[in-house]
Amino acid sequence: MTKPVSRSRSFASDNNAGVHPEVIEAIRKANEGHVIAYGDDPYTARAIRVFEERLGRNIKVFFVFGGTGANVLGLKAVTKSHEAVICAATAHINVDECGAPEKFTGCKLLSVETPDGKLRVEHIKPLLHGIGFEHHVQPRVISISQVTEMGTVYTVRELKELATFAHKNNLLLHMDGARIANAAVSLNTSLKEITADAGVDVLSFGGAKNGMMYGEAVVFFNPKMANDFKYIRKQGMHLPSKMRFIAAQFETLLSGDLWRLSATHANRMAQMLASELRKIKQIEITQPVEANGVFAIVPKKYVPQLQKKYFFYIWNEEISEVRFMTSFDTTEEDIEEFVALVRKTVK
Ligand SMILES: Cc1ncc(COP(=O)(O)O)c(C=O)c1O
Repeated sequence: MTKPVSRSRSFASDNNAGVHPEVIEAIRKANEGHVIAYGDDPYTARAIRVFEERLGRNIKVFFVFGGTGANVLGLKAVTKSHEAVICAATAHINVDECGAPEKFTGCKLLSVETPDGKLRVEHIKPLLHGIGFEHHVQPRVISISQVTEMGTVYTVRELKELATFAHKNNLLLHMDGARIANAAVSLNTSLKEITADAGVDVLSFGGAKNGMMYGEAVVFFNPKMANDFKYIRKQGMHLPSKMRFIAAQFETLLSGDLWRLSATHANRMAQMLASELRKIKQIEITQPVEANGVFAIVPKKYVPQLQKKYFFYIWNEEISEVRFMTSFDTTEEDIEEFVALVRKTVK
């Protein structure tokens, strides 16, 4: 179904937002002359240095077009097809990637129901059976999303617990960091504290939801794991020929404070939206608001009226739970107007 193009902003997705003007400017500036294609260019070298400054020197960084590709190829690099990836039932890799992780890695996904999108050690323990038994897939990776698909954020302690448990059990920790900037500002930490320092092995580092036009990075915290990745990326159709344009965007985002300012703003807007919605008794907020997503039960009868003006996604049809997302360009006026419409609709 084609959704109408409108100049106004909705709360459907942080991917519905445009591109941050500073990122557009970076793309424009990178659009000069010729450089060697496929990443052998000064923009890519500089962007990789910026990643190293943020996440540590002993890493390998690869740029790819999108988040699904980053997840699938990052997982592919560290698994064999008889192995399994443990994830939350709500994980993007489980529900929003059209089976691509299974198709391209050959691995079974072992998904676990969790109330808040977070995996915990007690969810994983029951899956660690049949180790060495050829009739069972062999768990190899724990994949978590930071921020989770339910808008919650793993604390540093929770991350370390998972990583320690993983490594004790010959598992790796993969992080889908499509919203890693929002997580870091939510926890008031650096990007390194919630990745390298917490024990993450492979990371999909998100750019699009933080104001980029497109582009994500796969980061390996153990360089040996990246040995074959250049081939995996090419075979996986994610080797961008004009790599400089992804690199220039990341450099702009990460060399200064742009990533942090944009995510801080988006998170603050989500807090504002949640606190306004909490005042409306017909609306029930269902998850802690820890980053830039607000999950709420909006009684079914009100949904069509609201969606006429503000498209948003229904997350759980059964209970009419919906998702509202804020982004770097959400304004206080956007929220006031939307909340006024909600008030009018439920009256
Ligand atoms: C948690 C999460 N992971 C990954 C992605 C990346 O998906 P895409 O392939 O659309 O860039 C998204 C995008 O919505 C997401 O929400």
